[in-house]
Amino acid sequence: MQINVRPVARLRGDRPLNVAAALGPVFDALAGSAADLATLRVVCDWIQYRENFAAPVRCRPVLAERPEQSAERPVPVAGLELAIDLRRSDEADLAASVRAALAGCAGGADDRLYLEPWTPTSTSCIWRFNTLYWQALSRWEQFTGREYEQALPGGQSDARNAEVARELIGELFRVWDELEARRALPEQLYIVELGVGNGGQARTWLDTFADLDQRHGRDYYRRLHYLMGDYSAHVLDRAWQAVAHHGEHVSTLVLDATRPLRTLGFLHGKAFFVYISNVYDNLPTDEVASIDGRPYLVQARAYLDRSQAAEIARRNTIEIGQVGVLTDRLLRLGPDLLAETSPDLFPDPGRAVSLWRDVWTALRLTERYVPLEGIDTYQVAPKLTGEVLRPLLEGGGDIRMHVSNGALASFADTLPLLHPFGRLICHDLFLTEPGQYRAGFHGPGKYDGSVVNWVNGPLLQLTGNRRGFDVRIAPFSGRPSANIRTLTAQVRD
Ligand SMILES: C[S@@+](CC[C@H](N)C(=O)[O-])C[C@H]1O[C@@H](n2cnc3c(N)ncnc32)[C@H](O)[C@@H]1O
Repeated sequence: MQINVRPVARLRGDRPLNVAAALGPVFDALAGSAADLATLRVVCDWIQYRENFAAPVRCRPVLAERPEQSAERPVPVAGLELAIDLRRSDEADLAASVRAALAGCAGGADDRLYLEPWTPTSTSCIWRFNTLYWQALSRWEQFTGREYEQALPGGQSDARNAEVARELIGELFRVWDELEARRALPEQLYIVELGVGNGGQARTWLDTFADLDQRHGRDYYRRLHYLMGDYSAHVLDRAWQAVAHHGEHVSTLVLDATRPLRTLGFLHGKAFFVYISNVYDNLPTDEVASIDGRPYLVQARAYLDRSQAAEIARRNTIEIGQVGVLTDRLLRLGPDLLAETSPDLFPDPGRAVSLWRDVWTALRLTERYVPLEGIDTYQVAPKLTGEVLRPLLEGGGDIRMHVSNGALASFADTLPLLHPFGRLICHDLFLTEPGQYRAGFHGPGKYDGSVVNWVNGPLLQLTGNRRGFDVRIAPFSGRPSANIRTLTAQVRD
């Protein structure tokens, strides 16, 4: 049996984790179980997100082969992984939870209401919830009485750091001055921001720019076009209001950040600065793993505990049998249309938001490992095969990591927009070494109504390098001790 304790930083210090005490009840439960202990792995995490998708104890089967589509027969299992959240290990009877999790894996009584079939994590319905959150943000905020930024660590987005904006704009002016001296600076100066939130970053950036430009005296502001792109028209409206005083210097575009070229193709090679902050960690991702030298894709399945589903039904005066169907309709229609089309169940949109919030809070994922038949056959992003994973996944022992599919697709599709002297700047939760995946939990977590996963920095670096870009990840200069880091990509000299 293997035991894998990931939160190693918590094993020392003033209040070290007592792993032995936490594991005692696990071994008690295993001693009385029929599980094949030779192929069992116990993985201990510390899930730092208070709101997350994980039960405190989970059992994840490692499948011996890929399941056939609509297969009737049970899929053979090569081993089991028992996952324990050490942060919650003393919340309930751990031994009983382990017994229940093992029984669930062995096909015992299932007390869950599933909301979807097995699917790679990037296509789980958690991403439909995430999209709904941004599309119907004002409804959610009305209901909870707080703005989305308040749910971020520190209660405010680092994107609004004026000192960082000053630094970046100063560097931009140096590049522009040099190009201007060679008569190589285009008349129109394009800046792009993807995933704009409440427009706080845009306002900070534009206000700082106008101020610095006045002092610099080159009249760059007159030539400036700041394009704000987001997939939520509602978010764009709000962001627009934050920068309305910059008038015709700003345009908004509804676009998908995972394929910006579709909308911004006209800017090919023209953008001096593409800014994207706290968006990559909010884009869909798969997870892959290497277990005993074999590659696996993590498949997930969203569910509600049946007892919670019953409570949700009671609170929202619906039948338990309607919870799944109405959740699906909510995700398709949003709270306003759901209330309009089912006024008997939802007399006003607030009642639909109440269902949304209840389901979201209770939503969990169960997982399994499905063998990948050849890593190259796995498609990471439209123009990127699983081959890019090879250096990170192979040769270093067992590991499980995010693929950051949405971030990679976005990154690869953004690089062509850059002017030869342009830069992509991204502030986000980046991992910088594959080894970090062995030493901590990096998502998914819930930030209010949205999903957060740390971003696989080394994969972005490999992807950029192969396209002739220099990609660096450095501490965020506005708050060097923060988890947020700055990724910079520019054409290699
Ligand atoms: C966490 S907020 C970040 C806002 C802002 N950049 C900041 O740092 O405070 C994520 C933003 O990305 C947008 N977003 C998420 N997925 C997107 C996608 N696929 N295409 C376009 N925008 C997306 C959301 O609508 C939201 O505005």
